[in-house]
Amino acid sequence: MFHPQGPTFWELARQALSSTERGYDLLAPKFDFTPFRTPDEILDGMASVLGTPKSIDDALDIACGTGAALRILRTLCRRRVVGIDFSQGMLDQACKSLAAGCVEDCPVEFVRGEIMQLPFENEFDLAVTVGSLGHVPRGQESEFVRQIAKALRPGGRFALVTADMPPLTSPAYWAARTFNGAMHVRNLLVRPPFIMFYLTFLLPETKRLMAEHGLEAAVHEGLFPRPYRGLKVVVGTKRV
Ligand SMILES: C[S@@+](CC[C@H](N)C(=O)[O-])C[C@H]1O[C@@H](n2cnc3c(N)ncnc32)[C@H](O)[C@@H]1O
Repeated sequence: MFHPQGPTFWELARQALSSTERGYDLLAPKFDFTPFRTPDEILDGMASVLGTPKSIDDALDIACGTGAALRILRTLCRRRVVGIDFSQGMLDQACKSLAAGCVEDCPVEFVRGEIMQLPFENEFDLAVTVGSLGHVPRGQESEFVRQIAKALRPGGRFALVTADMPPLTSPAYWAARTFNGAMHVRNLLVRPPFIMFYLTFLLPETKRLMAEHGLEAAVHEGLFPRPYRGLKVVVGTKRV
């Protein structure tokens, strides 16, 4: 459907009718051939505000999937990079694709776990999440940011990529609303739910959520080429 090696329409439909975890297990072998894998242009733009190679000790990638962001984190880090995700299928793919790294790359650890129950406290200098904010259940956004703030050391940073709310007159706004409506109907009719919604963690709400949990937010703009120009990187720094 997206790419000759990507999933077919029927494979995507089967994935969407499964639970979120099972859906990603099914999609895992073909995930990197879908537009759901965060593009390198976005990862590079984000990396440009996070630091120079080997300037960070320990970093965490939340909902790491097949490891798109782990690839940039292991060049930035000196000591340890951890990727957490609940899909074993996605973690297996990440492990396979990162195995081809070079010797100077920082070691990567994988944790199979739930992003709403992060098993970390005071141990990372940087936490990132890309392509995954739509999986945070509605109403649990504040708890998600609280857990990330807890995982960071004082002075540690939480970085994500987001945007402003698109104008009500834009096709992007209505496409997102239509998708969200379809997911609500799907979740009313089919159990277990598939948690995936657009228009979450937008600005300025993300800044407010970060402030609520002691993260001082800075917004970086102008980092991405077309068609990603409207995206912004928000970096929240935990107060010392
Ligand atoms: C769209 S993929 C993004 C993967 C990767 N970060 C990227 O940008 O290419 C979303 C990932 O979030 C994971 N995920 C979704 N909900 C989760 C949850 N509640 N706990 C842990 N992982 C979750 C999925 O398994 C999947 O690997």
